[in-house]
Amino acid sequence: KRHLISAADLTRDDAVLILDTAEEMARIADRPIKKLPTLRGRTIVNLFFEDSTRTRISFEAAAKRLSADVINFSAKGSSVSKGESLKDTALTLEAMGADAVVIRHGDSGAPHRLATSGWIGGSVVNAGDGTHEHPTQALLDAFTLRRRLVGQEGADLAGKRVTVVGDILHSRVARSDVRLLSTLGAHVTLVAPPTLVPYGVESWPCEVSYDLDAVLDTSDAVMMLRVQRERMNAAFFPTEREYARRYGLDGERMARMPEHAVVMHPGPMNRGMEITAQVADSPRCTAVEQVTNGVSIRMAVMYLLLGGSSPSGPSPSTTQE
Ligand code: CP
Repeated sequence: KRHLISAADLTRDDAVLILDTAEEMARIADRPIKKLPTLRGRTIVNLFFEDSTRTRISFEAAAKRLSADVINFSAKGSSVSKGESLKDTALTLEAMGADAVVIRHGDSGAPHRLATSGWIGGSVVNAGDGTHEHPTQALLDAFTLRRRLVGQEGADLAGKRVTVVGDILHSRVARSDVRLLSTLGAHVTLVAPPTLVPYGVESWPCEVSYDLDAVLDTSDAVMMLRVQRERMNAAFFPTEREYARRYGLDGERMARMPEHAVVMHPGPMNRGMEITAQVADSPRCTAVEQVTNGVSIRMAVMYLLLGGSSPSGPSPSTTQE
């Protein structure tokens, strides 16, 4: 494959290959010299039209650890603010010789447009588009789940029960997680207030519940989502206190999860709303571990898409077409 636009682009075997390659990358990150020469001479552009902390920094760290040249483009402070189009921005990047473009955009479908337009010749990686998808977040979530719940390379998540809680309606993370985790054999349950469940969810490969307390004791992982107030009409939202009471994860609810079960959050967190500080800071919460794992996953994705060569040990097979 040349691009990564949706978690639906990945078969079970593609996803397991990425997770296993990320394990190799994580072993390299544990060495005193963390850098690989594998993408030396290649240029990766991080094209961010929307704000980001974790995704932008970890794509940059991943590219640098693979020795690629990295160009960071943020729409703020660029000619986008003068009205320059995505097409003209893309043609400018192509003129500078981008081998891959990592794009975050507020409009669902922008990465797909970039990948299919012919404006650029390199690979396109979706770093989050509108309410559509965030496939590398789903991959790092799957990587974290496999490490915590399975602990075996080559394996998938067969039979694991993952509960995703909160603002499903606006969540590209939820859409990518449902697709990828179900491809890997997990049973996914979405929990949300009825006003934050998307139209058409019946066709998704998951179950839907409106009662968090009913699913806690059978969950192997509970993933809390940020309430995206910036994308929301206030009329459709319960009060913050009511939301926290019915759908927030606090210490009392966490204690009702099985002993082995983990709490996840993609970040950024609204502490005190979907998750209390006590839960966010508990050893059962993998939020910081997810960020660390994100670097290994993004190294694996760039390595496989750009067909890097490994100087150390066996070379993972690439998925280049
Ligand atoms: N999880 C995530 O996408 O975080 P950022 O918006 O900070 O990149």
